[in-house]
Amino acid sequence: MATIKKQALVIGAGTGGYPCAIRLAQLGVDTMIVEKAEPGGVCLNWGCIPSKALISATKLYHKAQHSASMGVTFKGAAVDMKQMQQWKAGIVKKLTSGVKGLIKGNGATYVKATAEFMSPRKVRLKYDGDQEDDIVEADHIVIATGSVPIEIPGFKVDQKRIVDSTGALELDYVPKRMLCIGGGIIGLELGQTFQRAGTELVVLEGLDRILNGVDAECAKIVARQIKKDGGEIHTGAMASGWEEKGGSLVVKAKIGDEIKEFETDVVLVAVGRRPVTQGLNIEKSGVKVGPRGFIPVDARKQTNVPGIYAVGDVVGQPMLAHKASHEGEVVAEVISGKKTVDDARCIPNIVFTEPEVAAVGMTAEEAAEAGHEVSIGKMPFAVSGRAMAIDETNGFVKVITDAKDARVLGIHIVGPEASDLISEGALAIEMGAFAEDISLTVHPHPTLGEAIMEAAKHSIGEAVHIMNPRKKSAH
Ligand code: NAI
Repeated sequence: MATIKKQALVIGAGTGGYPCAIRLAQLGVDTMIVEKAEPGGVCLNWGCIPSKALISATKLYHKAQHSASMGVTFKGAAVDMKQMQQWKAGIVKKLTSGVKGLIKGNGATYVKATAEFMSPRKVRLKYDGDQEDDIVEADHIVIATGSVPIEIPGFKVDQKRIVDSTGALELDYVPKRMLCIGGGIIGLELGQTFQRAGTELVVLEGLDRILNGVDAECAKIVARQIKKDGGEIHTGAMASGWEEKGGSLVVKAKIGDEIKEFETDVVLVAVGRRPVTQGLNIEKSGVKVGPRGFIPVDARKQTNVPGIYAVGDVVGQPMLAHKASHEGEVVAEVISGKKTVDDARCIPNIVFTEPEVAAVGMTAEEAAEAGHEVSIGKMPFAVSGRAMAIDETNGFVKVITDAKDARVLGIHIVGPEASDLISEGALAIEMGAFAEDISLTVHPHPTLGEAIMEAAKHSIGEAVHIMNPRKKSAH
């Protein structure tokens, strides 16, 4: 058993941990990063990247079936799920090996092992196989252990017929029927992926709406598309268990006062994720864990124990890769001695459904609750020349401003390429922009981005391509 001394040890090489280790090394801190599974964590291996690969492939297939009005028809368009899985696996392999290369190339040490605390500064590394444990003594330790899917009683995940997001992303066939428990981000993104490939989709959501937390009007457009493609969405529906009948899974759900049954072939359980602190011997570190398993941190991402930090899903919502990376980079600067804090004004939130939903800042309801007099500017893609030219006119851009000074409070987009368009909104909020900052920025034509400019104009009564609300400019 060797004792290794390091200035910094990062536990977990997901999207929180690996950027942290890379930045630490760039800043001259002697760093080790330890990962028990694969570099890249959930995002690269079992989340964002593989799901987006399957989403884009099935979107292409769906488009191929709906392009006759554009004068393009495909004969024999088909989904080969095994090939799609291989293609996806190739992308994952490229990215994960790239991560390892970047960590090493920047001068940090990458170790495959399981880490557990022995004391606030000492961590044991346990290797697979016969290799003896090592001990790392580090001045700074970063916990970046991420999250795992929540399981619910009555639906034990076997990754074959009852799957979570990891299992769903590995299915190498198109199930005839799929039932998603949870109408949140994962349920809808993955449910719709298989729906586009030909699966009959049923979504059971316990609340009275899908995509809770997302602008309600945006969520409605997604629901409408799922139903248009033949899917069913049941809200106020709590799944309680299943049994096998004649080769089918029969899922029971309480909807109102009734118990309803749904026959299906695969059940996707997507009811949220929980932070991972088990197996870390965290009590030996002295780090406090909150009631729901999240680790409380300050603006420097430091826990209650000086020198121990935590980033990413393990510190709380939103559980998003880009939030984790940002926090990881903040911590690296803090450890290197810089006076950095996490002062991000907004974290963009994206749902990669069809159409995509993307948001930054407040919804109109949140803005009103916070005491703002709300002005809403809206530009439907139905009147955007570019959206018509790509035959994707479903959706809109909504810009929320304070009616008194036209300060941009939130931007919500549902529609084509919303995921890419939203970065302009994030920049606007980060820089404290007013509607005029967006409306007077010349946007190229013909692009989808013009819809953001037009919605900003609309919020101050200066839109040119849609009728303005009857009021004067705020300035
Ligand atoms: P979620 O919190 O988005 O949605 C879970 C839904 O399940 C909720 O609406 C909840 O009301 C419902 N539910 C819970 N128990 C239920 C039951 N027994 N019956 C019916 N409905 C039930 O969680 P999800 O979709 O699992 O995603 C987890 C996290 O992963 C998200 O919070 C998100 O941060 C992250 N994620 C982000 C993505 C992105 O940025 N595009 C993609 C995928 C995941």
